[in-house]
Amino acid sequence: MPGLCAPAGILRSLVRELLNSMNVLGINGSPRTGGNTDILLDRALEGARSRGANVEKIVLNDLNFCPCRECADLKDDGSCIIEDDMRLVYERIKYIDGLILASPIFFGSLSAQTKMMIDRFQCAWRAKYILKKEPFKKRKAGAFISVAASDRRDFFDNAKAIVKNLFVAVNIDYREELFCRGVDKKGDILKYPEFLKKAYLLGQKIAKTEGV
Ligand SMILES: Cc1cc2nc3c(=O)[nH]c(=O)nc-3n(C[C@H](O)[C@H](O)[C@H](O)COP(=O)(O)O)c2cc1C
Repeated sequence: MPGLCAPAGILRSLVRELLNSMNVLGINGSPRTGGNTDILLDRALEGARSRGANVEKIVLNDLNFCPCRECADLKDDGSCIIEDDMRLVYERIKYIDGLILASPIFFGSLSAQTKMMIDRFQCAWRAKYILKKEPFKKRKAGAFISVAASDRRDFFDNAKAIVKNLFVAVNIDYREELFCRGVDKKGDILKYPEFLKKAYLLGQKIAKTEGV
């Protein structure tokens, strides 16, 4: 009975979504609460939630953490010795299944908050490539969202190269990206429904259960 196929398909996808216990973390690297990056990230996390994922958001600007001190010291488990709010980020990166990292473009690259967090993963790089330890061993799906006022594409290339470096160090597969050009004032992203829709779809893709 062809008529029964559609409800059966809907039921199957509902069950899959109910059984989806993926943990998706969003990290916002913008200092502007309610700004364009924040709005896009929330939309992406809504998309992930719509697929049954547990979602959590960290706002880097709200954390109390310092830049990398280049001490080259690691704890036995391969994590950084500095005791600050980065501990929260390390813990999450160990158990999540998906990461959506979002940063505005500042001076042609990532925001300082985002870059500062990434530098603090030098411990992961040293552990992986020098000590042959894997504190962030679990494979994860990753996405990068960025927004800039200008029309230039090369700024996103700069930012993406750094994000990809981080993802390799902590075993995140770079799966999805969304770059929004020509968006400047706080909240102006709301004038671009196509970007908001893309962010939602990006979140849905990161939350899909297969292949992580
Ligand atoms: C410190 C600073 C530097 C910026 N540098 C650039 C830049 O190099 N290129 C660009 O296109 N936009 C630049 N912008 C504009 C932001 O990328 C843009 O306003 C973006 O929408 C901000 O996103 P947010 O609301 O999530 O913070 C800069 C903004 C600030 C505050």
